[in-house]
Amino acid sequence: MGQGRVVLAYSGGLDTSALIVLLRERGMEVVTVTVDVGQEEDLAGVGERAYKLGASAHYTIDAKREFASKYAFKAVKANALYEDKYPLGTALARPLIAAKVAEVAKKVGADYVAHGCTGKGNDQVRFDSTLRLVLGDDVKILAPVRELGLRREHSVAILESKGFKPPGLHGKYSIDENLWTRSIEGDFWDSEPPEDAFEWTVSPEKAPDKAVTLTVSFEKGVPVAINGYKMDPHELILRLNRVLGRAGYGRVDHIENRIVGFKSREVYEAPAALALIEAHRDLEKAVYTPMEYRFKKLLDQAWTDLVYNGLWVEPLRSHLEAAIDSMNKYVTGSVTLKAYKGSLWIASRHSDYSTYSKDLEDYNKGWYPEGKESEGFVKLYTMHSLLAAKKRGAGI
Ligand code: ARG
Repeated sequence: MGQGRVVLAYSGGLDTSALIVLLRERGMEVVTVTVDVGQEEDLAGVGERAYKLGASAHYTIDAKREFASKYAFKAVKANALYEDKYPLGTALARPLIAAKVAEVAKKVGADYVAHGCTGKGNDQVRFDSTLRLVLGDDVKILAPVRELGLRREHSVAILESKGFKPPGLHGKYSIDENLWTRSIEGDFWDSEPPEDAFEWTVSPEKAPDKAVTLTVSFEKGVPVAINGYKMDPHELILRLNRVLGRAGYGRVDHIENRIVGFKSREVYEAPAALALIEAHRDLEKAVYTPMEYRFKKLLDQAWTDLVYNGLWVEPLRSHLEAAIDSMNKYVTGSVTLKAYKGSLWIASRHSDYSTYSKDLEDYNKGWYPEGKESEGFVKLYTMHSLLAAKKRGAGI
């Protein structure tokens, strides 16, 4: 690390706050950038903190709308749940944050860009890859946490040595928040996360004794309205987070396989993300042919893994998205959801493109296949399986 101007991706949290001090100590001029992706934080306060800690300039960039429409809603179209559980909040926001930081770096003619990612996590892959794509391979990335193996206690010591109070609400958890997901890491390896780790959701045990009902409308796979009211993407997400979180819905707790060879216990809050994906998947099921439905899962899985793995930059993403968009062309309609004490279910759905037809499906009314038609179908359909089973002497 030499002297010069560095642009730092600044969250306002403990580690990146310590980084301002550390980089200043090495004689660098520090420009901080905080990207608003819907984290519920006092961003004016974050800016003030940056200046107090020694930043020469600070940028707050409002990217909520962009994050909602160009990142989160792509995740809805792809039903993106990593390892069937995690709605990718952190993974989706990183490339956008890195792109905004890169823009500032270009604007101020930075010598370096810096971030606070650890060498044990996924985020370093997501940051570095986007920075390299936007700024070129010669970009000088400083990642002091990774380079020096900084731990929490080091960051606290760095700040205290200069007389600063370490930021952080309870200090017990490492939180990453944006409007799609609140990611919580803490000291709970083999136990239930304590209630004070949660902020968006009430405990299902304490949720009201009355179900919440709401209807989400989709156009071409994109959520556009709640209860018939059109809303901006980020407003729609924030509203669902509030309403469903109050019903105790939206917690995820699982063991996750990281990119970097570890498993980790991950706890999330993501009421809107989980509900929108559930509703979207349900609508797809009503609209798709069986062939489409089965194939779509492959596209979804490929897109989700790519994004989790820090490969937002990978050209395959645009091919997958072209196919995902094409398959979402008829995913238009509405889904009524009910949430109650932590659970959520679909009460009804409607789409003009649904191929579910009461007349066709009803056993007692409408069209009925002729006896011979059904018999012939069953015979041919089971023929090969029966042939093989008989040859092998397989019993029941
Ligand atoms: N495991 C998640 C991911 O890799 C979330 C990481 C969240 N980071 C945090 N400081 N809590 O996307």
